[in-house]
Amino acid sequence: MKESSEQLSTKRVLVSLIKSVDAYNSLLKDHHRRVTAFAYQLGAEYGLPYKRLSKLVIAASIHDIGAIYVAERDELTKIDVENPEPHEINGARILSGIPAFEDIRDVIRHHHVRYEDTQRGRVNPSDVPEECWFLHLADRIDIYARHFADSPDPKEALRQEIRSRFGRDFLPELRGTFERATESGQFWHNAEELSFQELLLSAVDTEMKERGPTDLESVALLFGRIVDSKSHWTLTHSQSVGAVAERIAQFMGFPEQTSLKLRIAGYLHDIGKIAVPSEILEKPGPLDGEELRKMQEHASISAWTNSSARSTFSPMPTYSPPFSKRGPTGIPCPRKRR
Ligand SMILES: [Fe+2]
Ligand SMILES: [Fe+2]
Repeated sequence: MKESSEQLSTKRVLVSLIKSVDAYNSLLKDHHRRVTAFAYQLGAEYGLPYKRLSKLVIAASIHDIGAIYVAERDELTKIDVENPEPHEINGARILSGIPAFEDIRDVIRHHHVRYEDTQRGRVNPSDVPEECWFLHLADRIDIYARHFADSPDPKEALRQEIRSRFGRDFLPELRGTFERATESGQFWHNAEELSFQELLLSAVDTEMKERGPTDLESVALLFGRIVDSKSHWTLTHSQSVGAVAERIAQFMGFPEQTSLKLRIAGYLHDIGKIAVPSEILEKPGPLDGEELRKMQEHASISAWTNSSARSTFSPMPTYSPPFSKRGPTGIPCPRKRR
């Protein structure tokens, strides 16, 4: 089925931006992509209807966006995550109020819920969308795969460990699905070989069509929020810049399309901060040389070097923050005029 150029671009932009987030996330590097591949295959093996499979794939592709700090992401790579709730809550907050992602917000919010928690009254089962069980299982498959990588038979060690956790961590009804899916070599091969493009551009096809032409704005707002949530100094900064830029354009009598572009540019203007560790953005004192270099780099990093994203957002105004270094409070200082 033929797609409109805007819908196709939107999906490509989503792919580009997700890749950008992962590229700078060394601890969880490639985690989103592999979990998406595992979740997609588990959902397909189970026979999830296509629309729900699409929802699962989108949720899996960004499921850890709420993990802002290095220490937090480090914790997620452990076998038993002690306190996953902060990154689940933050992820749901980032997605809230964005219509295109509203239906996956609850999946992100509960993607680490253990089956036992719903049986012992710690979590209300009706709060947990079915997609969460697939996503949790896929997420742990990726973590166990790293954990058992040096075992004599890594695949069997992983399968045994996960088997022992059905009814405790994982939904018992998914055991058969897990056994059938993971005995195939293709399951593991796909996790290595399937790219985000292949997963998202095919698996979320129908879903993205239904999401409609506001998707571009939604994606831009989503990534603006991811950037903003990296530091409490900038919690709503990108959204505010977008709103102000749009109002100025309207006030100056620019066409509606230009005003919208400026709003989207505002959402995305600090996207390079994705590459700056939160520990630097949040540092209460002056930055040292290396930290300063990383901070200054953010204006020049093109987080969407992928040509499809660039063409979608082009022509967009560019912005270079007028600061040189941080003052004693850690807040960027304006450059002195000569
Ligand atoms: Fe997570
Ligand atoms: Fe994860």
